[in-house]
Amino acid sequence: MSDTPIDCKASPNPRHIAIIMDGNGRWAQKRFMPRFYGHKAGVKAVKKIVEYCVTEKIEVLSLFAFSSENWRRPKEEVSLLMSLFLSTLQREVNSLHDNNIRLRFIGDQTQFPDALQKLMTDSELKTQRNEALSLVIAVNYGGQWDLTQAFKRIHDKISSGVLQCSDISPSLIHQHLSTADLPDPDLFIRTGGEQRVSNFMLWQLAYAEMYFTSALWPDFDPAALAEAISSFKMRQRRFGQTGEQINDQSTPPAHLT
Ligand code: IPE
Ligand code: IPE
Ligand code: MG
Repeated sequence: MSDTPIDCKASPNPRHIAIIMDGNGRWAQKRFMPRFYGHKAGVKAVKKIVEYCVTEKIEVLSLFAFSSENWRRPKEEVSLLMSLFLSTLQREVNSLHDNNIRLRFIGDQTQFPDALQKLMTDSELKTQRNEALSLVIAVNYGGQWDLTQAFKRIHDKISSGVLQCSDISPSLIHQHLSTADLPDPDLFIRTGGEQRVSNFMLWQLAYAEMYFTSALWPDFDPAALAEAISSFKMRQRRFGQTGEQINDQSTPPAHLT
């Protein structure tokens, strides 16, 4: 953490919070229950965190719900997770809409059953004009997948003459990621005690502030999120500059992309 003095009152809330919701399985096992019990408790935690983000006027909340590597889990757990995802979406979409929340899904949806793909697209369309919070759910998502699909689309545009090789830049790559319309995460949170990125938004996390907590996801409540946000607000983000430059109001803010 920074040791340069900063004016904490001036630090704004993060615009975009990205969370790896880890620890559901261990939460259940501690209670001598099957892992799925922890995933269900995890959905309850999501609801409270979403509500809190709306009250705190966070613009974007991204939640890692299922990674491209999670298919490697036992078949039964994968299939229970898929049905939990489907039933939660069916149950919650109207209330998300009523609360002015815009839903977005990122990840490779082609492996999902048609009915689920349709529900995801319909929910995105229904909520697309909502403004209180953009809730991004990453399902069958991997940062490497995201970069790969971006590179393929850029390659197609070069092949068809729409772009030239010399057009490739960090900002062009950003524009082809699944999060192209969103600001990059300011605050990255991982619950469950592990300190790794597990193939989440690899490109987008370039300058995110990292926050790791041993709290298991079902126990992560608004008070725990408030603690993470206040840790974020205590930090000085320098984006490669010196602390003195950041403190000097006349220096324009650094932009990465
Ligand atoms: C995160 O919790 C949820 C998903 C990956 C779907 P885990 O299921 O990974 O819980 P632990 O890490 O085994 O406790
Ligand atoms: C990361 O958690 C993925 C999600 C929370 C969806 P994992 O539990 O799958 O991560 P690893 O395998 O411990 O790195
Ligand atoms: Mg885990």
